Amino acid sequence: MFGKIGRNDPCWCGSGKKYKNCHEMFDTKIQKAKLTGHIVPPRNIIKNEEQIEGIKKSCVINIAVLDEIAKQIHEGMNTAEIDKIVYDMTTDMGGIPAPLHYEGYPYSVCTSVNDQVCHGFPSKDVVLKDGDIINVDCSTILNGYFSDSSRMFCIGNVSPEKKKLVDVTKEAVYKGLDEVKPWGFLGDMGQAVHDHCFANGYTVVREIGGHGVGLEFHEEPWVGYNSKKGHEMLLAPGMIFTIEPMVNMGGVEIFTDKKNGWEVYTADHKPSAQWEIMVLVTETGHEVLCY
Ligand code: MF3
Ligand code: CO
Repeated sequence: MFGKIGRNDPCWCGSGKKYKNCHEMFDTKIQKAKLTGHIVPPRNIIKNEEQIEGIKKSCVINIAVLDEIAKQIHEGMNTAEIDKIVYDMTTDMGGIPAPLHYEGYPYSVCTSVNDQVCHGFPSKDVVLKDGDIINVDCSTILNGYFSDSSRMFCIGNVSPEKKKLVDVTKEAVYKGLDEVKPWGFLGDMGQAVHDHCFANGYTVVREIGGHGVGLEFHEEPWVGYNSKKGHEMLLAPGMIFTIEPMVNMGGVEIFTDKKNGWEVYTADHKPSAQWEIMVLVTETGHEVLCY
């Protein structure tokens, strides 16, 4: 690559430790996987301890904001009120809402109701009514470190069909999480998510997925759910990515609102649900950093 690192030289990860006591074994495993044809993580997505600590502090804000939304969300509330709570609380805690001005996105949060798949614009004209399901997707920047997670909320009396969609989507995320372990593959997770949704008669959106996160809002790898066990990127300790499937009650097809270029809907206007968690691959398994 860029010349060989001596075993007593400082490790490339920035830990300050000697290479032989840090990522030497790691690199051997990566090389082996590469030689057998696997996709392997680039070094710039492997976080060191200091970076993980910084990312965790960002997650503390993101979790607190979503906990606050959980307390305040109610029938009759408009989604612009959710945007204000997210902006105020994030900035009060010293953070910046990551969506605001991200590639021109005009709000601090995404609020996606019923047949909205993702990137729903908060609006005073969108008033939550009895029976709605809504995804609130929050992301925070703190000291340059990014966090990202989303939750579903059921407003009033939600039909059993919609409630099941919401529950199964969450179950699918955690079935995927069970598969996250060092030296496994991203496809192990993807297939577990997909299988659970498919078994319940749902479809999983193909075009939009999860992503590496932490040092940037969106990093490698792209995280899909139409993947197969043993395929996609090798998972290595220090990787952080989101699991965030968008699950449709009806068909898999989606479209983007041409007026604003952001809001995504199901083509058949049947409901869609999404939960998003942020997970760290550890030496022994995984750790959920944000939910
Ligand atoms: N939070 C979304 C995600 O999970 C990203 C939204 S992009 C934005 O990746 F611009 F709408 F914020
Ligand atoms: Co995300």
